[in-house]
Amino acid sequence: MSHSIHSDKVVALRWHDAPGYGHLDMVDQTRLPAVFEYLSYDSAAGVAEGIRSMVVRGAPAIGVAAAYGVALEALRLQSQTQEAFDAAMDIGFTVLAQSRPTAVNLFWALDRMQRCRAQHLSASPSQIAVVLLTEAKAIHEEDVYINKKMGEYGAALLSDGARVLTHCNAGALATAGHGTALGVIRSAVAVGKRISVIADETRPFLQGARLTAWEMVQEGIPVTLITDNMAGHLMAHGEVDAVIVGTDRVAANGDVANKIGTYMVAVLAARHGIPFYVACPLSTIDLSVASGDQIPIEERAASEVTGFRETQWAAAGVQVRNPSFDVTPAELVSAIITEKGIIHAPNFSKLSALFS
Ligand code: MRU
Repeated sequence: MSHSIHSDKVVALRWHDAPGYGHLDMVDQTRLPAVFEYLSYDSAAGVAEGIRSMVVRGAPAIGVAAAYGVALEALRLQSQTQEAFDAAMDIGFTVLAQSRPTAVNLFWALDRMQRCRAQHLSASPSQIAVVLLTEAKAIHEEDVYINKKMGEYGAALLSDGARVLTHCNAGALATAGHGTALGVIRSAVAVGKRISVIADETRPFLQGARLTAWEMVQEGIPVTLITDNMAGHLMAHGEVDAVIVGTDRVAANGDVANKIGTYMVAVLAARHGIPFYVACPLSTIDLSVASGDQIPIEERAASEVTGFRETQWAAAGVQVRNPSFDVTPAELVSAIITEKGIIHAPNFSKLSALFS
């Protein structure tokens, strides 16, 4: 079977132009795979709520959504006086920045939009709105290109027939298209490699079971779903050849924050001599944090741990922890796959060199 490199079967975000305004559609990822539905957004506050509630999730997709959130706010406010426009735009940026704490792509995209705004200080609100929308569209398009570059580099790391374990969803749904970790798999399949995927279900939000499994089924890429506590057993029995995950933030020393449970997978991979790869666009590397212990880790609602949606199975009143991400130390990372190439055994000097 042949596969196109960029599948249009799975599109998380779609911009719709209309004269003088526009709107953003996002697949409601809280309801997949049972319901495939786009929700429509027309303001920064609306997009921020979409990010917070995880209608859109995955670091690059959050960044793209936030950029459009800024543009939507400017379009919505463009007929106001300069003073009112500036004040309301500042609030829009703040609301978006408060939507989720861990994925640095959110702050990366907002910084880029702020820089763009700052370069057009003398422009009218309607002119700034056009400029900000153009910048958001550029961020959107660049992300697809970057994912395909990472896919090209990363595909070389996978041998024909490889059984690749992944955790969470770092696919087309988590990006503007193609995906980071799943992008590497898509690209390897596109060059003719027979790759099969082992998807951790990824408790408690089930991104693996609900989203990764769905994406792979859409494309006809063989996928086997396991619960998170089965990974060690499969590795011990020689059933995993490589691990590839995405990331929400990589610190300057190469420590990797990703979905809760990634650290356990990395420890197991090291124990069994299995390569552990991280697909990571440069927009996810945060040189301003020295190491992983400085990365803010989101703590989510207890109800995600005590049950799923309306079904709650844990004893009422039990104390719960729900950290949504963990940090894998750089020493457990075999390589980081970026759009500029593969960084084996990442460390401060190798990561800094990517930006020079
Ligand atoms: O809480 P989520 O679903 O936003 O977490 C997503 C992840 O942890 C992904 O692995 C990461 O953002 C990389 S997505 C290309």
